[in-house]
Amino acid sequence: MEALAQARVRRPELAARFMEAQDAARLFRPGMTVGMSGFTKAGDAKALPRALVERARGEPLDLTLITGASLGNDSDGLMANAGVIARRLPFQADASLRRKINTGEVMFIDQHLSETAEQLRSGVLPAIDIAVIEACAIREDGSIVPTMAVGNSASFVQQAKQVIIELNLAAPVALEGLHDIYVPRPRPGREPIPLTHPGQRIGATAIAVDPARIAAIVVTNSPDSPSSVLPPDTETDAIARHVIAFLEGEVSAGRMTPQLLPLQAGIGTIANAVLHGLTQSSFRGLTMYSEVLQDSAIELLDAGQLALASASSITLSAATHERFIANLDKYRDRIVLRPQEVSNHPEIVRRLGIIGLNTALEFDIYGNVNSTHVGGTHMMNGIGGSGDFARNGELAIFVSKSEAKDGAISSVVPMVSHVDHTEHDVDVLVTEWGLADLRGLAPRERAPVIIEHCAHPAYRAQLRDYYERALLRGGQTPHLLEEALAWHERYRRTGTMQVT
Ligand code: COA
Repeated sequence: MEALAQARVRRPELAARFMEAQDAARLFRPGMTVGMSGFTKAGDAKALPRALVERARGEPLDLTLITGASLGNDSDGLMANAGVIARRLPFQADASLRRKINTGEVMFIDQHLSETAEQLRSGVLPAIDIAVIEACAIREDGSIVPTMAVGNSASFVQQAKQVIIELNLAAPVALEGLHDIYVPRPRPGREPIPLTHPGQRIGATAIAVDPARIAAIVVTNSPDSPSSVLPPDTETDAIARHVIAFLEGEVSAGRMTPQLLPLQAGIGTIANAVLHGLTQSSFRGLTMYSEVLQDSAIELLDAGQLALASASSITLSAATHERFIANLDKYRDRIVLRPQEVSNHPEIVRRLGIIGLNTALEFDIYGNVNSTHVGGTHMMNGIGGSGDFARNGELAIFVSKSEAKDGAISSVVPMVSHVDHTEHDVDVLVTEWGLADLRGLAPRERAPVIIEHCAHPAYRAQLRDYYERALLRGGQTPHLLEEALAWHERYRRTGTMQVT
């Protein structure tokens, strides 16, 4: 193990910085701001989170923890429960941390994923004291070769007083070359990001660092947590069919070529299933400019339908991960991993004309979307990159099953209980029942289309009744304000949104 690790550290003087995780954990002080690699469970530090949990016994560390996105290995939950984390941003997807957020014990800043690096650079966020970055190798010049995610790692390293590298022997060195590290310069006077094609490489293949700031190298040997997305089901298959028919219509209408525009697909079971559905389509020569690649992206690459994919992380099930690693050479020229600031950058998303496919918890009869807050108050995961793509892309498509919790909740409601994506940003809504194309429609035209095409039949009469009575009050966007959130309140009180 020692020889294997040393072979991956190509700058001999750094051999002196090998350290056990518990010793590296002593570098941390209460209240510090820490930047950790990791994006949707990929490329996260494996040893330091657990060592920090030990370190915090008897002395809460109350760190501000900034990552790319969610961590794997239950790290977020373990750290939250042990008092390692007091503040957390910009995204999480852990049940234990979610509980701490919703009881108010951990302060969670739910942020567009493109913005964190910008706020670090401008000094809005406190500067990073320690960066913990997973790597598969360290080069001769000390630069860090990331693993399955880039996330915010390059920005953390630029700023951190000390850098701890977790050298993961389970991540093949063959990942080297997959990454494209470009960090926008400070303002004023910033140049445009010179990226005009999803597959273009504009930066370095490793993260530059002054080797003097590398405080420790901790050796690990554990794979990323496998993704936990569920396989497609009848409803997600139906959603996929509606999306495909819509995109075919865009091609027939001459608004897109058969290669479409670059696709983005959000995290979770539904978005993955919709993208998987594209394997049943006749589309060829597709491209992706996304933030995360899930199993479905690899399936499309394998099927020859996806020509290339750009993202900030790759999060796969165990079986797909194994196939991906075994065939890395096959994928190498067709995948680029970038900092999330670039993968999600509004400038690039608008320039390339991304088709954004993201998931809603609920949406309302006028097209506002809630992706984050259950019942309007309780955080699920966070907005992630959905806002980066929805606001700036060519098409913002939001998908959802029409009901949740065995029909007790309608995903189509009179008024969303929290707004992540406003009616101004949302182009298309899709459930298993159908698709509502909202482009060019005024609110009074949108409501009937959303109710009739997307709502579950069990809730349509209730929605029609609300809308018809709201129309009597008038307005650009008619509402009965005293009733607008009554559906959520009814669910809280009686366990169902249905009027019984
Ligand atoms: N009210 C309450 N709960 C709801 C709900 C609603 N309107 N709609 C769905 N849910 C619940 C489901 O019942 C399920 O609960 P469970 O885990 O207890 O079974 C859970 O939310 C997840 O829903 P699911 O249908 O399995 O969808 P998913 O795995 O595709 O996740 C989101 C959906 C919205 C939670 C997820 O996509 C997300 O976090 N999105 C925001 C971030 C984002 O879009 N990023 C995109 C760029 S990466």
